[in-house]
Amino acid sequence: MDRVFIAGGCPLRGRVRVSGSKNATLPIMAACLLTSGVSTLREVPRIKDVLVMQDVLEVLGARLEWRENDLVVDTSPVGSSTVPEDLMRSMRASNLVLGALLGRFGQATISYPGGCNIGSRPMDLHMKGCRALGVRFFERFGLIKAHAPVLSGAEIHLDQPSVGATENIMMAAVSAKGTTVIRNAAKEPEIVDLQNFLAKMGARIQGAGTDTVRIEGVTALYPADHAVIPDRIESGTHMLAAAITGGDVLVENVIPEHAAALIAKLREAGLVIEVADSSVRVAGNGRLAPVSIKTLPYPGFPTDLQPQMTALLCRAQGTSVITETVFENRMKHVGELRRLGAHIKVEGQSAIVRGPAQLSGAIVEASDLRAGAALVLAGLASENGTVVENAEHLDRGYERLEEKYRQLGARISRSIER
Ligand code: EPZ
Repeated sequence: MDRVFIAGGCPLRGRVRVSGSKNATLPIMAACLLTSGVSTLREVPRIKDVLVMQDVLEVLGARLEWRENDLVVDTSPVGSSTVPEDLMRSMRASNLVLGALLGRFGQATISYPGGCNIGSRPMDLHMKGCRALGVRFFERFGLIKAHAPVLSGAEIHLDQPSVGATENIMMAAVSAKGTTVIRNAAKEPEIVDLQNFLAKMGARIQGAGTDTVRIEGVTALYPADHAVIPDRIESGTHMLAAAITGGDVLVENVIPEHAAALIAKLREAGLVIEVADSSVRVAGNGRLAPVSIKTLPYPGFPTDLQPQMTALLCRAQGTSVITETVFENRMKHVGELRRLGAHIKVEGQSAIVRGPAQLSGAIVEASDLRAGAALVLAGLASENGTVVENAEHLDRGYERLEEKYRQLGARISRSIER
């Protein structure tokens, strides 16, 4: 188990560059399976979830090679369409190969990715969309066998704007016969990045970023080169780290539009935010006003920043209410924040945060990636020392997080127990 040690009380100051988006990279790596050949992905973050997706592609036969933050993906040797259960269970996003394997081979064998700490994470919408395209599913012993002699375009209306379901249906539809329309599609920037990569591959696809994505099936797809977009959740985490420590940080390699919901809330809380073309500067000014947050699909406030925002609002002068509407079990960080001195009460899907709390260090445990980030932020703002256990969760989604915060003046280090 890894432990991160933080001596809090240092305002973060300086500049930090955001890495490439985890949640854009994972579906785009899967999309490489749609054709045979060598694609080059740039600005790829060297994080655990990307390494797991690399394992998935390699077990299917692909060859991958890193060159700094470029990832060269050769899918010409790919011959299998079965993902081993242990890989499926180690990362939910492994299920993103479903659509691409159907598009390439007309079949796929995966297993239920298993729930995780933030919710049950079902796949019913993925399967409903694929069924509409002509896919038949056979489920036994936790395995899901998908088979489609022919993929035919269809009109699909998603019950809710699922990011993964939208992505899987897009990838299955690009080589289907005819037109596919996905309504109530997710609108996240990562969906737009996937569309841009698929279009470079020769797909005929439009509408990503709106609630309706239209795909005209094509008969041939080709490898492509693509630089993934910056990680909007990492950039938001750094903005919140500047805010909670009362620092002054220039966050670089940002697409400000992707952080609009957070920037609006930080301004509402009284922070000084300067927005430039590809950077955002956040300066704390001591006083933090309480705000109310409701997580929603993009462009609403992102659920992946809810734990980190909850940590910040522990320091606000008043009572804030944070309501989680996307996942049913994403309040595990609250108990750990209380150990650091926060005054939070959970009522249903809402956390009532009474501030300002004088946060003081403690030993706390990360339950998942974003909860772990919230605990690091709270530790940075706590008096004396904080230890975050199970810190390996952080490596799933953040590239060199402690190093980035040390460069901003944080007293933070990690011990690794193997
Ligand atoms: C993606 O997960 C992200 N992961 C998540 O980021 C993010 O929190 C989530 O979208 C919401 O924005 C990746 O992109 C790899 P969903 P995904 O399908 O696709 C329910 C992080 O920390 N649902 O949009 O799994 C589901 O249970 C991670 O980077 C169904 O009911 O999310 C949830 O309540 C965490 N049936 C809601 O929809 C389905 O078939 C949203 O899930 C699919 C989803």
